[in-house]
Amino acid sequence: MDQEYSLACDGVVFHYPDTKEPALHELTLAIPKGSKTAVLGHNGSGKSTLFLHAVGILCPQQGTVLQGGKVLSYSKKELAALRQRVGLVFQDPEQQLILSTPLEDVSFGLRGSGMAEPAIAARCREVMELLNLTDLSDKPIHQLSLGQKKRTALAGVLAMEPELILLDEPTSYLDPLSETQMLKGLEAIHAKGTTVVMATHDMDLAYRWADWIIVLDHGRCRAAGRPEEIFAEREELLAIGLGLPLLADIWFSLPATVTIGQSAPRTSEDFTAILHKLLES
Ligand SMILES: Nc1ncnc2c1ncn2[C@@H]1O[C@H](COP(=O)(O)OP(=O)(O)O)[C@@H](O)[C@H]1O
Ligand SMILES: [Mg+2]
Repeated sequence: MDQEYSLACDGVVFHYPDTKEPALHELTLAIPKGSKTAVLGHNGSGKSTLFLHAVGILCPQQGTVLQGGKVLSYSKKELAALRQRVGLVFQDPEQQLILSTPLEDVSFGLRGSGMAEPAIAARCREVMELLNLTDLSDKPIHQLSLGQKKRTALAGVLAMEPELILLDEPTSYLDPLSETQMLKGLEAIHAKGTTVVMATHDMDLAYRWADWIIVLDHGRCRAAGRPEEIFAEREELLAIGLGLPLLADIWFSLPATVTIGQSAPRTSEDFTAILHKLLES
């Protein structure tokens, strides 16, 4: 059976004006529907440019972008419909947040879509609860921490109930508590059936969070697959300037006699459990 894809690129070329190399270089990839996909790649590998194509802010100069199996078309009406189905959370929440409190900001998009006020209030309450923002609803946005701002930006996107959410570096510069809160929110969103995609530098996070990995390198897709397949290719990852997740690094350097027949541990709890079992036997 064919895997169903939420988003796909087929031979996408995109060149920013006055740059030597194209940012996307005949990029072909597909993001499985219902997945938690991490897009990995060095700085400048094209992650953000890819995301801007997914919501039609940028348009390929060659090739096509497909969403829900259909090639994107760029009329105003089609783009508005696309942006209901696909939500992009920018890396910098300042680019996204425009009003003065989380509640006002989260309701803004819904008002634009013509929803009735009681339904708007109910939807806002629901997403703000999900992202643990209820107590902050009326706090001035400029007084929020970065983690709180990032969750508010996510709430605004989530309120539109997209089927696909793309997050550009959602945990960068967050402290561990804010990161945990962000990931809890993403877990809840994914559990509702939304496809969740994040661009990240954090290999440890990608390894424990994602169920599908896409590796970009100079605007091309270098590898795509399940985390345990991708991170077993250590030489390939090191060659394109990516580190290895600590757990994967340790696991794949153990002798085969130890790892044989076991699936690679994705969390320190899994790893500890395996070590205890080994020590006992
Ligand atoms: N607005 C822009 N103008 C010109 N070049 C850009 C612009 N944005 C990105 N680029 C270039 O496009 C390439 C891909 O960038 P980007 O998509 O931001 O990568 P990433 O998000 O993986 O760091 C890089 O070489 C970058 O310098
Ligand atoms: Mg980027």
